[in-house]
Amino acid sequence: MCGIVGYIGDDQAAPILLDGLEKLEYRGYDSAGIAVFDGKQIEIKKAKGRLKVLEELTHDGANMPGVVGIGHTRWATHGEPSDINAHPQYNKDKTIAVVHNGIIENYQKIKDKLTAKGYKFISETDTESVAQLLDYYYEGNPLEAIIKVMQRIEGSYSLGILFADHPDKVYAARKDSPLVAGIADDGSYIASDVTAILKHTRDVYYIDNQEIACLTKEGITFFNMDGEPVQKESKHIDWDANAAEKGGYEHFMLKEMYEQPKTVRDTMSPRIRKGHVVIDDLKMSDDDIRNIGRLHIVACGSAYHTGVTAKYVYEEMARIPTDVDVASEFRYRDPILDKNDLVLIISQSGETADTLAALRLAKEKGIRTLAIVNVVGSSIAREADEVMYTWAGPEIAVATTKAYSAQLICHYLLAIRFARARGEITDEQEQAYVADLEKLPDQIDMLLNNKKKIQKFANRYIGAKDIFFIGRGIDYAISMEGSLKLKEISYIHSEAYPAGELKHGTISLIEDGTLVAAIATQKKLYPKTVSNIVEVKTRGAFVLAVTNEGDTDMEEHADYVIYIPQTNQYFTNSLAIIPLQLFAYYVAVGKGCDVDKPRNLAKSVTVE
Ligand code: F6R
Repeated sequence: MCGIVGYIGDDQAAPILLDGLEKLEYRGYDSAGIAVFDGKQIEIKKAKGRLKVLEELTHDGANMPGVVGIGHTRWATHGEPSDINAHPQYNKDKTIAVVHNGIIENYQKIKDKLTAKGYKFISETDTESVAQLLDYYYEGNPLEAIIKVMQRIEGSYSLGILFADHPDKVYAARKDSPLVAGIADDGSYIASDVTAILKHTRDVYYIDNQEIACLTKEGITFFNMDGEPVQKESKHIDWDANAAEKGGYEHFMLKEMYEQPKTVRDTMSPRIRKGHVVIDDLKMSDDDIRNIGRLHIVACGSAYHTGVTAKYVYEEMARIPTDVDVASEFRYRDPILDKNDLVLIISQSGETADTLAALRLAKEKGIRTLAIVNVVGSSIAREADEVMYTWAGPEIAVATTKAYSAQLICHYLLAIRFARARGEITDEQEQAYVADLEKLPDQIDMLLNNKKKIQKFANRYIGAKDIFFIGRGIDYAISMEGSLKLKEISYIHSEAYPAGELKHGTISLIEDGTLVAAIATQKKLYPKTVSNIVEVKTRGAFVLAVTNEGDTDMEEHADYVIYIPQTNQYFTNSLAIIPLQLFAYYVAVGKGCDVDKPRNLAKSVTVE
């Protein structure tokens, strides 16, 4: 998705803006631009394509003098990727420049109204309506004009704004799209993602919904919609800027896969004491937990897949009836929610538009919400009644790996906590689960060290047309994630199927040599999955099986077997996903794909 950076201070702005935009490249974009006040006027340079096109155009920023500016990477929504549609957008005499993340839903209405008043629009973007509307309302006071515009526009936005009349200021505003501001020794910054400014400052302010920030080189003032100053506290960012660098790995995705043992440990250890699960961040009492009528898990993409796994665990271990919904479906299906229900929201970024909307829907209906989130201070983290953080650190690769693994851990911990409070498991059972959980980091490490074998196998499939993943129960949930990882980064068509369902149509796609990855970690379902393996093999499939150590009879049925170490049946997802992540990664690398930034995708999906 789009990225915003802004700076005002002592140093030349353009190189700083370009450097910040580079840090946001991982979010996915198709054009970029910067606007700098050069001492006389606002100069704007923008270009379709990668940031390096803009860097060449500006000689790495050197040919754009000035100490105040805003920059943007655009992921097209309204209007194709082009130089004209790139941001910054501006008014007719270029005295107001705007960068924008999000969507202005009523832009057409604004455009029609301003066109009738003689305004000429040159781009197809919704953002230009903001720049032109600012021009319409501007009478010398930027804050007043911004407030009027915010009262008129609908949708989600974070904005960075320059006024040529006020070259000693950068303005910023937001609603439902993230934006942070920070002060450093050399000046003040804004960014849509803290990674863009982390090398300058670690103390940042999260701009709230319907708040405006005015940056000068000395400091930042925040205002509410009445134009009154607002006092805010800064938050210190603990994680190291190096955590957002590749650190010797070829790709962020590989680095993040290798961080999984640590991520799992960091997310789990503070919540385990003397063999028991203690979730300090959970405010719910035992009574509250006992009273949960139904659990509704709502998320998108991989986060949704953790929910599919977790459904089996919450239902079987804690005996809580559980629904899992894709957020974009949940929010429009008028879900039946009871006052005793718990809505469990899962999101790495904490900014996914549909997931955020689902959270708000639940809150509007007065239902208790709990969010599992990675990005501290994100919208979902701030708005949910309770938050359980995944301590995965910044995840840069578009395809999630370590945040996914950390989300699974949060589910397991919650399930144990819920099961205990509801009297579904004994003290001894809890201790046994905890003992298995504590082994996971080393077991994941062991599986990662097997990468050479998987790389070799993956190289055989870089020319594949279709790859299928099958499994039953939790193994089906693992299949869904394995399939998504593969298709999103390698562009090979892939589908995940409940193993028993394939024969109801899809099996007709199996031909000689089609790869079918069969996941068989669930003991009670093992013989059933083996029958399904036999079915596809009979039709010519080549079967890769992922199963538990010890189930060596699998060698008689499958063509290639990967074993995962023994763990409790509820936790096998955390292990079985590792070879599937590695497989997807090496197929994509073998094909020469842009692994960290797959085409058409964005890290944080802030539009619905
Ligand atoms: C896939 C992937 C996406 C995200 C989804 C939700 O690798 O990363 O499917 O899981 O876009 O994002 P968050 O978790 O940020 O809400």
